[in-house]
Parts: sequence; C-alpha cells; structure tokens
Amino acid sequence: MSSAGGNPIRVGLLGLGTVGGGVVEILHRHRRLIAERSGVDLTVVRAAVRSPRKKRTGAATDVPLTTDPAAILDAPDVDVVAELMGGIEPARAHILRALAQGKPVVTANKAVLAAHRTEIFRAAAKARSDVFFEAAVCGGIPIIRTLREGLASDRITELVGILNGTTNYILEAMRAGADYASALKDAQGLGFAEADPTLDVGGHDAADKLAILTHLAFGTVVSPDRIATEGITALTPDVLADAERLGYRVKLLGIARRAEGGLELRVHPTFIPAEHALASVPGAYNAVAVQSDALGTTLYQGAGAGALPTGSSVVADLIEAGRNLRAGLSGRVLATQTAGAPRVMSADKARSAYYVRLLVREQPGVLAAVTRIFAQNKVSLATVLQRERGAEPHPVPVVITTHRAPAGAMGRALRAIGKLEALQAPPHLVPIEELK
Ligand SMILES: NC(=O)c1ccc[n+]([C@@H]2O[C@H](COP(=O)([O-])OP(=O)(O)OC[C@H]3O[C@@H](n4cnc5c(N)ncnc54)[C@H](OP(=O)(O)O)[C@@H]3O)[C@@H](O)[C@H]2O)c1
Repeated sequence: MSSAGGNPIRVGLLGLGTVGGGVVEILHRHRRLIAERSGVDLTVVRAAVRSPRKKRTGAATDVPLTTDPAAILDAPDVDVVAELMGGIEPARAHILRALAQGKPVVTANKAVLAAHRTEIFRAAAKARSDVFFEAAVCGGIPIIRTLREGLASDRITELVGILNGTTNYILEAMRAGADYASALKDAQGLGFAEADPTLDVGGHDAADKLAILTHLAFGTVVSPDRIATEGITALTPDVLADAERLGYRVKLLGIARRAEGGLELRVHPTFIPAEHALASVPGAYNAVAVQSDALGTTLYQGAGAGALPTGSSVVADLIEAGRNLRAGLSGRVLATQTAGAPRVMSADKARSAYYVRLLVREQPGVLAAVTRIFAQNKVSLATVLQRERGAEPHPVPVVITTHRAPAGAMGRALRAIGKLEALQAPPHLVPIEELK
C-alpha cells in the first residue's frame, strides 16, 4: 500500500513492549484509514529489543526483531525512529544519534525529556529535524499538540493537572475506604503501579511531566528537581474523610501558575472543591485544566497510560513526522527558554489556603497555643474544628483551615506546632486550591 504522498514512511522502533506493541497494533488495524486521512502511509520495518526470545502477542509477532540499535539508528531503510524503550541511557544517546543522522524521533519517554530536554531539542534544531513527544505526558491525551498548536495564539496563565494515573487510582480507592497500603497493592495487582512505585507515589513522575508542560505552556525551562514536590504517601483515610466533610476532594496536582513574583510551580496532594471537574476524574485517568487569556478554561481528560491510548499518541506523532519529511520541513522545536518567560519563584513564596490536621492530647490551653503560633507567623485561620472528644487518654483530632498564606510561613508555623508537648503525631498539612 502506498499513500497519496508517495512511498511509505518507514518506521524503526526502539522497544516493542507495552507502548511499542500498541503502536504496531494501531498501525495493523488502521494503516489504511491513517493513509487516507493524513496522506501518510506508515510501515514498521523492525524493532530493537533486549530479549528477542521473549513471547510477543498480537501484531507485534509479525515485527522483525534485532538486538542491535544501529540496525534502527543507522539503517538507510528507516526514515523515522520511535524511541519506546524508556529510561535515561541509552535512550538519550540513541535519540541524539538518530537526530544527528537526520532521522526525526518520536519518543514516549518523559524521564529522558525531563532530564535532557534542552540538549535533545537543541540537537533536533541543529539537525533541522523533528522530535515529537505527545505520549510522554498524559499518555493518550493530546495535551502537547494542544499547547503547541491549539493554544499557540493564546497566553496561558495557569495549568493544573492530574498528571499521574497511579496516584489518582490510589486516592480514589482511599476515598472509597481503603487504606494507603491496600490501595497501592490493588493498583499493583491491576498493573497501574510499578513494583517499585516510588516515582509515582512520591510525585516525581508528575514533576517530570509538569517540567515538560511548563516549558511548552510558559516557555520556562525548569528541571524537575527544582519543582517543590510532595507525594501521597503520608495521606491517611482520616485526611480524605475530612476533605469530604469540608466539601473537597484530595487529588495529587501539578500546578504551574503565573503569580505576582514569578511562576508558581509545585506538585502535591491538594484539596479541591468537590464540584470542580478535576475532582471527578476517575481511576487511573489523567486530566489537565488550562486557563488562558482568550479562551478561558479548557479541560483535557483521558487515559494517561496503556498500550492503545499511548500508542495512539505515538502514531499521531509519526504521522506528523512523516508529513514533515514528505514536505521537506521540520517543526519548530522550542530549544531554549523563550524571551520574557516567567522565572520560577521560590516555593516558600507560593500562597495558598491550607488544611491542617493535628492529633493532640486534650489538656487546657492547647488550642490557644496552636492559634498563637499561627498568629505569630501571620497565618489567619478560617475554621477550627475540634472533633468529638475521645475517651481519655485518646488523643483528639483538631482540624483547621487557613486563609491564603505563603508556604514558608505555614512551614514555620507547623514546625513550631510540631514541638508542642501535647502533639501526639506529626501534623498533616494539605494546600487547598479553590480552582476556577
Ligand atoms: N506503558 C505505558 O502506559 C506508558 C505510558 C506513557 C509513556 N510510557 C513510556 O513509554 C516508554 C516505554 O514504556 P513501556 O511501558 O512500553 O515499557 P516496556 O513494556 O518495558 O517496554 C520496553 C521495551 O524496550 C525494550 N528495551 C528496553 N531496554 C532496551 C535496551 N537497552 N535495548 C533495546 N531494547 C530495550 C524492551 O525489550 P524487551 O521487550 O526485549 O524486554 C521492551 O521491548 C517509557 O519511556 C515509558 O515511560 C509508557
């Protein structure tokens, strides 16, 4: 089969696992449709894998395999390289080598982009070639193309997202009554969480994605390790139940927002209004809410992982790479920080309202001491709820919400409260975002 535009675009895959398998399955099912619709006929010529004897299923069984990446990177019969192996090295080296050979690269690898985005984008610009990475952020949701193209005319003021499906699944299970450990075990059983879940539950995967989105949405280059990041491991069912009682849901959010003093960037569990669209994002889904000057609020939601959703993003990128090859041009990649891009502000200065949960031994003067510490740090309280008296000597939960205050002041107040002799457990602190 050949497309209206000429010979097929020959794709070489680095990796034929979950995502690679999804890509070949989609091309197997939709190759003709894609060629008719886009004028680009895509064919997979071979895939480099680690273990060629591993059993493959579906359309992947028909793909010729090699263990030699050069058979993809340097092969004259490969027009476009899809890097679907994951990890930093050798993925980074392979991407750079493909670009240096003039081969456009499509990658699903958020880790390599978060750490080496600038180097990779510069290499693409130097080679006048393309690097596409729709699948690297929020799997099947076309958020990268939306930021690059759909919103190209607009000025983005805020981007808030549920960027990690594993943690969303765990939080939903906890809301339904599970504790953290059993929710995590369930997620692992269903294949939503890795055997080592640290990157997901620690918020680092979300921070990687937020760094990439921030570059596209605001032009600001930031390394994920400069993003204030907190995961979900300290959350308890009590905190989620308090959120419900107060009219909120708890979601792990990545937040990038133009604020007075720069760009606010953070990843942390957050109380959001129960009626906000992000509050009802189900299971392992991802979602991103974008505020922009002309368009206002838009919401993008869908499957953030999985063979076919992620594969569909990779194939969309392959189509674009193929089109550009046919036309003899390359897309403009944002190699560096744009002029006038906002600077990342210090995490201590970011302001939000807070929920605080303290477990205290009941004794006279404890509440007065707590409120005094907040006042000393110029944090004003919105509500204070001392929950039902426990039978002595059980500690009593005190639930507090504050008005907006800088993170630095809240941190100082919490450290001082943590030293109170009546405190029976480390306090819980969760920012509250009254999202638009
Ligand atoms: N899974 C998802 O839903 C999802 C969603 C969004 C983004 N991503 C990203 O997509 C990428 C691929 O993920 P995946 O889930 O498809 O991974 P995977 O199932 O583990 O597949 C990785 C593939 O790469 C091959 N491979 C690994 N290291 C290699 C090496 N050094 N040389 C040659 N081949 C090598 C493996 O070979 P063998 O088959 O022989 O082991 C396998 O075919 C990652 O960057 C991931 O973050 C995945």
